[in-house]
Amino acid sequence: MKLLVTGIAGFIGSHLAERLLDRGDTVVGLDSFDPFYARSIKERNLARVRGRAHVVEADLLDEAAVAEVLSATDFDVVVHLAGLAGVRPSLGAPARYQRVNVEGTTRLAELARARGVRRFVFASSSSVYGASKRLPFAEDDRADEPMSPYAASKRAAELVLRALVHTHGLGVTSLRYFTVYGPRQRPEMAIHAFCRAIDRGETIELYGTGAASRDYTYVDDVIDGTLRAIDRVGDGYRVYNLGAGGTPTTLNEVVALLAEALGKPARVHRGPAIVGDVEHTIADIRAAKAALGYEPRTGIREGIRKFVDWYSRT
Ligand SMILES: NC(=O)c1ccc[n+]([C@@H]2O[C@H](COP(=O)([O-])OP(=O)(O)OC[C@H]3O[C@@H](n4cnc5c(N)ncnc54)[C@H](O)[C@@H]3O)[C@@H](O)[C@H]2O)c1
Repeated sequence: MKLLVTGIAGFIGSHLAERLLDRGDTVVGLDSFDPFYARSIKERNLARVRGRAHVVEADLLDEAAVAEVLSATDFDVVVHLAGLAGVRPSLGAPARYQRVNVEGTTRLAELARARGVRRFVFASSSSVYGASKRLPFAEDDRADEPMSPYAASKRAAELVLRALVHTHGLGVTSLRYFTVYGPRQRPEMAIHAFCRAIDRGETIELYGTGAASRDYTYVDDVIDGTLRAIDRVGDGYRVYNLGAGGTPTTLNEVVALLAEALGKPARVHRGPAIVGDVEHTIADIRAAKAALGYEPRTGIREGIRKFVDWYSRT
């Protein structure tokens, strides 16, 4: 299969590209090396990709550059992971999040379709469930109460893609990722930031009581689900939760597991809860299990141990 992977230099994109290349697919990557975090980290993410995939440095919003990438190869599928991630940074830049995540996605889908690409897989987010009180979150929930500009941008992009299925005959699968962690996790995400602080003997800034919980999902499981979705993307619009689907883990538990794995004590300073953050996320993964055969395997204790192993080696 020939695939365009946007966001290839990022946390999830680099893992996905490696797995696609390992199984023999042809991968072209597109990434702007957005300064949200250091370029050097993204270059390291690409260590096992460079030389095996053609990586183009371009911005999603640069229509000529994206059109050129799309015209150079007859892609079977576009996997769109590029975007501005993270709830908290979106609070100060709502318009930028809309531009990159909504307009960027719309333009990419439109250009892809114009080039005859009929299959599109999109990285959406559990944050689209927002203030939904019904737990676990299921794909047919309304998801019309986003709590941050980031969540709104992901939901809006889903809706644009859904419309393009009808108007342009694109086949789209949106994957709602639930707090992904593992080697190369973005440096500002909680598990990575807490791990760094404990390791260095610094104080962890923990917002809220620590009782907030997440359906933390190990990156290998997310990649497995994404590959299954890529292999099955067909006509029409589909959406799947890719979460761990088990018992969610509180922030306090994450801190304790990290301290245990590092063999160092955690110092915690508690601040007020952050506007935009949801209290709990739990994924209903029955649809992904039934349609994709998705079966997450890594529990939080094992996943954190693997993350700390990676962190300690780098
Ligand atoms: N990590 C998670 O827990 C999680 C959860 C839900 C959804 N997602 C979504 O999955 C995708 C990948 O997330 P990640 O954690 O790997 O993030 P990441 O920031 O590591 O990767 C995103 C990549 O997109 C690139 N990018 C940003 N703006 C771009 C632009 N305008 N043009 C081209 N490239 C651009 C960045 O340079 C980066 O390499 C994102 O769309 C994110 O919103 C992630």
